[in-house]
Amino acid sequence: MEFENLINPFTTMPVEPKFFAGRKAEMARIERQFGILTTGNTAHIFIEGERAIGKSSILKYIQYKISSDSKYENNNILFLYVKLGDCKSTINACGKIVDAFNEKIDWTTRLRDKIKGIRGLEVKVFGTGGRIDIDKTAELDIQTSFSKALYVIVDSLNEKYKFIVLMLDETDAVVENEDFGRLIKNTIEELDINKKKNVMVIMTATPQGRKNCEESHSGFIRSFILIKLKKFKDEEGLELINRALSKGRPKTEFTPEAKEFLIKLSQGTPGMLQELCQVVFERFRGQTVGKKEVLESMVDSEEHVGSLTIIGQKYFSRLEELEKQHSLYKKITQIYSEKPNDSISIKELVEKTGVEEKIIRRIVKHLLKVGVLEKEGITTKYRLSSTLLGAYLYARNQSLIAKGKKY
Ligand SMILES: Nc1ncnc2c1ncn2[C@@H]1O[C@H](COP(=O)(O)OP(=O)(O)OP(=O)(O)O)[C@@H](O)[C@H]1O
Ligand SMILES: [Mg+2]
Repeated sequence: MEFENLINPFTTMPVEPKFFAGRKAEMARIERQFGILTTGNTAHIFIEGERAIGKSSILKYIQYKISSDSKYENNNILFLYVKLGDCKSTINACGKIVDAFNEKIDWTTRLRDKIKGIRGLEVKVFGTGGRIDIDKTAELDIQTSFSKALYVIVDSLNEKYKFIVLMLDETDAVVENEDFGRLIKNTIEELDINKKKNVMVIMTATPQGRKNCEESHSGFIRSFILIKLKKFKDEEGLELINRALSKGRPKTEFTPEAKEFLIKLSQGTPGMLQELCQVVFERFRGQTVGKKEVLESMVDSEEHVGSLTIIGQKYFSRLEELEKQHSLYKKITQIYSEKPNDSISIKELVEKTGVEEKIIRRIVKHLLKVGVLEKEGITTKYRLSSTLLGAYLYARNQSLIAKGKKY
């Protein structure tokens, strides 16, 4: 088989636009904002979502969708994508953002002089070009110098681009600094007031990240429309699989039952669905994949280590020790594996096992200690600590059942 004919269409990276699935309602809300760009009433956008839910993917898709839509052809939109994942300090993040602009600036003497006049910024000149650097010793001035700098830069870019979309991805680490949310809020206000809103900021973070932003500036979220990326619905998962399979080589088929099973295992996390499908495709490409094949690529079979086993091992080296001590550990993890998304109370466990509460409490305590279970908020309910662990437990049980063994 020739190498170029092998395409595993599933990915653990932000998804290519042609494979982008679902998110219809969210995209409609976002596109509405682009539709009113010229009115000056466009809102900034805050995209909130848990890890691996698709924040970076939707940013990529927005840029693709808008740039390829003839409706916006005459708007000259510049997209700047900045990933702040490895920025710890606010000054670090400012440097990264300024850097993204640096690549687009056409230098003039006038611009150079303007920037030079802003405290906390340095301009390095190379021939006809140059670059702006943040003076790292000017920490105290960053709040004012950054928004001033962006104002001047945007002003100079507006001759070439009518609109600038600044995408700030992976902001979780930097928004832990109390001053970053304030900085973004102030910068947005400065640009909005002075520039008649021709910069749109699209920012992503986890729910905790948004909380941090709001703590740093109580009015923070009012500058944005908030788009929450939720778990995938089953039909979105199905679209993900079908889109990918249509581009996979060699042609590989998943039966409806296999698809349904994969969607169930992924528990609504697109990242997990991609990961599971990637493994299945890798192992059974060119064939027809049913539920049996899915199970075989997840959990160990005779000649093959299943992908979930590796994840399971993280917990299972410890869990298996416990399981050897008392059969109740197995019973309880099985109860969880049947409803891997739910949290279950001690009372329910007592009812389901028919075992004394005191003993159940002790078992749950150990499962908490080895990291298999975690406490649900401040309640007395407990849930599996990882969705992948849920999938593993479920697949392990199913696979054992399929082999005719009793769990
Ligand atoms: N709409 C989608 N269609 C198809 N696949 C998707 C979609 N959204 C996300 N994915 C897949 O899910 C995984 C995670 O996506 P992505 O990296 O965009 O998430 P994220 O929220 O940015 O994650 P992180 O919090 O780690 O930055 C990737 O494998 C990606 O391909
Ligand atoms: Mg991301």
